[in-house]
Amino acid sequence: MVAKPIAVTAKPLSERVHWIGALDPAMRTFDVILRTPNGTTYNAYAVRGSAGVAVIDTVKEDRAEQFFASLESIARYDEIRAIVLNHLEPDHSGALPELMRRAPQARLYISESAQLMLKSLLKSDVAYTPVTTGDRVSLGDRTLRFVHTPYLHWPDTQCTYLEEEATLFSGDVFGCHFCDERLFNDTVGDFRFSFEYYYQHIMRPFKQHVIEALELIEPLELRTVAPAHGPILRDRPRSYVARYRELSTPRLHLDVQSAEKTMVIFYISSYGNTQHMAEAIRDGAQEIGGFRVSLYDLEGAETEPFVDLVEEADAILVGSPTINGDAVKPVWDLLSSFVKIHVKGKVGAAFGSYGWSGEAVRMMDDRLRGLKMRVPVGGLRIKLIPTGEELERCREFGREVGGFLVGRQTTRVIDMSELLAS
Ligand code: FEO
Repeated sequence: MVAKPIAVTAKPLSERVHWIGALDPAMRTFDVILRTPNGTTYNAYAVRGSAGVAVIDTVKEDRAEQFFASLESIARYDEIRAIVLNHLEPDHSGALPELMRRAPQARLYISESAQLMLKSLLKSDVAYTPVTTGDRVSLGDRTLRFVHTPYLHWPDTQCTYLEEEATLFSGDVFGCHFCDERLFNDTVGDFRFSFEYYYQHIMRPFKQHVIEALELIEPLELRTVAPAHGPILRDRPRSYVARYRELSTPRLHLDVQSAEKTMVIFYISSYGNTQHMAEAIRDGAQEIGGFRVSLYDLEGAETEPFVDLVEEADAILVGSPTINGDAVKPVWDLLSSFVKIHVKGKVGAAFGSYGWSGEAVRMMDDRLRGLKMRVPVGGLRIKLIPTGEELERCREFGREVGGFLVGRQTTRVIDMSELLAS
């Protein structure tokens, strides 16, 4: 894309609230992994009260010029009484050191969980006030109230609620990477794909935390939701909140009996050997009962639909042959997609047939443990074609993992994930 000069000015959300952020229309990849076909915005806001001005969030360092120009168009530095950082990631804190230099009298407010990060970020001690849910800062006739929303998507994240205007400055929550200088959701182009994509890649691994945050956000009156990226949500803001609720609510348990546990077994097989192992493991697990067992062949399948299954499964077993000393690519594609979801604490196990050396099973085991899954039984390897006796070992493997899943297994190997989690 050809970058054109950007002339941005502060834009009013109301008489007392201004957007003072920065546009980044040419960005095409964010944080290395996120695709941003429409660029992004770094949204920062200024709130004017009768007793001073608050600045909420800043921008990425290389966009500071836009931010300061906008800020200067609506306030003097000596009027700034409060600086609130909802989240310390550099796309929002990049201009913070310079802002503090220009407004040394301003008090910095960050969440309690942001304190260590602030030290690492600034590499120096600065005065600040840690805040949490319910704490308030008065600007005279305007009041900011904090809502701690940890892990959306960093431990430090919080939202700031402007009580008199029912405006929620929500940080990354309800945001998206979509740059349109018209700024408001009722004036920009259709950005739904971007909103969904952002949720799937940023918030989805933290669904439980999203639900906890929604418990605090949903009771608020919401005239405007002003996120840190993308359009400002002034038209039907509650519909975006509702969409987060929908996206974060488990679906599978609505379809199967609500208390039923689920085990999913994925395999890929060159000559049918790993497949036969998978089937025997399924049969063994089935004998235990008390949970639903599903079996999937990864060959020729898209990974994406499986991610939903994995997200809601209680146990995930993965089987691969060893080819050239490694598990095969579809297996790694599946395992690498686990990073998008929350798998910590789920039961995991690996298995596979091999010809010479059989490294794949150990490597998959390591990956499952690295994801902090509970791996109660060491991976099962069988050389080439499983014999009848070896298929019985597979069934026993299924029974062991299944027994652990329903709490009937008493013998366990050391669970590295628990050690790593401590
Ligand atoms: Fe937009 Fe997590 O920073």
